[in-house]
Amino acid sequence: MGQDREERRQVSCRQGAGQRPQVHGLPVNYRHAFHAGSAADVLKHVVLLETLDLVLQKPKPLFVLDTHAGEGLYRLQPEGEADEGIRRLWGRRGEWPILGGYFEAVGRFNGTRLRDYPGSPLLISERLRPEDRLVAVEEASGAHAALQQVLRSPHSQIFLGNGYHALKALLPPRERRGVILIDPPYERVTERSTLLTGLKTALQRFRQGIYLIWYPIKDKRDAERLVAVLSALGDHLCVELLTWPADVKSRLNGSGLLILNPPYGLKKRLGEVVPTLAQILTRDGTPRYRVR
Ligand SMILES: C[S@@+](CC[C@H](N)C(=O)[O-])C[C@H]1O[C@@H](n2cnc3c(N)ncnc32)[C@H](O)[C@@H]1O
Repeated sequence: MGQDREERRQVSCRQGAGQRPQVHGLPVNYRHAFHAGSAADVLKHVVLLETLDLVLQKPKPLFVLDTHAGEGLYRLQPEGEADEGIRRLWGRRGEWPILGGYFEAVGRFNGTRLRDYPGSPLLISERLRPEDRLVAVEEASGAHAALQQVLRSPHSQIFLGNGYHALKALLPPRERRGVILIDPPYERVTERSTLLTGLKTALQRFRQGIYLIWYPIKDKRDAERLVAVLSALGDHLCVELLTWPADVKSRLNGSGLLILNPPYGLKKRLGEVVPTLAQILTRDGTPRYRVR
């Protein structure tokens, strides 16, 4: 308990949130609700669940840190990006048993009709066993309050604060086994350098952690530069999925995850799963992906 209080104190020292205009505690230029269930969310959550499924095969307790947790549960919007993501898959989900674990996880938050989309903290919490532990960190007070309403499990803690600070405050975890999801909105020009600094600190403190870092692919060279820098940090796996060709001017051509210290078997598994996803989610009929 003492340690938990200390963790809460350190993570709660907010920095940065006040620098941006806020509406109901959320930065005005970022609401994940519009992006919920998008192709990028689908890729991220499939990779997250596949990683957890492998790591949870071992009986030892696991720590999971979600540094940019979001609201937790999103009511799918009529004109949201889910049309290009989960809604493309849901009606025909019986056709892709390889994605069964993901569909089952999303289905747990819905009746027969797809209405809500679970974010990363809920997906993680559902997967964890009683001996495991999740810490979800969210900087925006509105999203934090929303998450508190929907994430209620004895093994989950929610902190209001800066997820990058949590990398320092909460690592290494007492379990000595951990998965860390870093899923920033990339709306600040300084995001990439903050990410890199935070990650280097995290690796110094917890070298063996499994780090999942999500990134957008808008400009191919921009993404390649980020991947080159992140890849240099250690043993890694890079997973990318483009829904549009890289040279098409679109809001988001695709997204990727750089996984540091990927668990054994993840590359093989994603090599089977991601091509299927790419086939379903492509907008122009050509699947484009990378698992390497
Ligand atoms: C992409 S969304 C998270 C989605 C979530 N990980 C999921 O997969 O469902 C990014 C979230 O990070 C929050 N955020 C932005 N900067 C942050 C920071 N430095 N620390 C913690 N949260 C932050 C935003 O308010 C937003 O809710």
